[in-house]
Amino acid sequence: MRSSLIAGNWKMNGSLQSAIDLVEGIKAGNPGKAQLAVCPPAVFLMKVGGMLAETEISLGAQNVCDQEAGAFTGEISASMLKECGCRYAIVGHSERRSHYLESDQLIAARFAMAVSAGLNPILCVGETLYEHEQGVTEAIVAKQIDAVLELCGIAGFAEAVIAYEPVWAIGTGLVASPDKAQAIHEFIRGKLAASDGDIAQRVQILYGGSMNPANAADLLSQPDIDGGLIGGASLKADDFLAIAQSA
Ligand code: 13P
Repeated sequence: MRSSLIAGNWKMNGSLQSAIDLVEGIKAGNPGKAQLAVCPPAVFLMKVGGMLAETEISLGAQNVCDQEAGAFTGEISASMLKECGCRYAIVGHSERRSHYLESDQLIAARFAMAVSAGLNPILCVGETLYEHEQGVTEAIVAKQIDAVLELCGIAGFAEAVIAYEPVWAIGTGLVASPDKAQAIHEFIRGKLAASDGDIAQRVQILYGGSMNPANAADLLSQPDIDGGLIGGASLKADDFLAIAQSA
């Protein structure tokens, strides 16, 4: 039986003070049903990590470098993230893919570095609106996963999380219907199962894209939706906790 994971991706929002307030609110109201994680901006990881020590709430980074160390200005290594107390690292978010032109291959290399450092990667996959309209969602998601399978093999997914985030649903208020989201999650699990049935059954597959307290319960009740990667609604403790409550 897979447990639920509700992870907040704060993106590039807030201030040190608002991060502190948000963590205090989440700690105070954690319903203790789902596993919770927060992914603050990198400069706040140390502070937030300290606040989460000795709690059940996990810390995650929003990205991780594909290289171990050295002359990679602006990047942050997996071992540095571990030192901050991170358990998770998001890789391949659609905003990284589209705004910073991260390729499937670079994302796979970031994923590999997270795994080798003992971080749990949260691999984001999903189709754009155009791809959605063309009906090629499965092909796009398969290609994004294949790049990681080619580099890391199925064993790379043993401690990984996948987040299906249709790009057209991110920050738009549009949300995939529970049955359509379920179908893609089932497809993803089936794809992993073709290589290893046990790993496929264990991997948590999260939905992301305009999840909020009003639509979370229906999405989270689907058999292959194991949680959520929450953007906007993770910036308010009450909304984030309400989603966690419905997991
Ligand atoms: P929203 O919840 O704001 O749509 O963002 C989802 C997301 O991109 C999480 O990574």
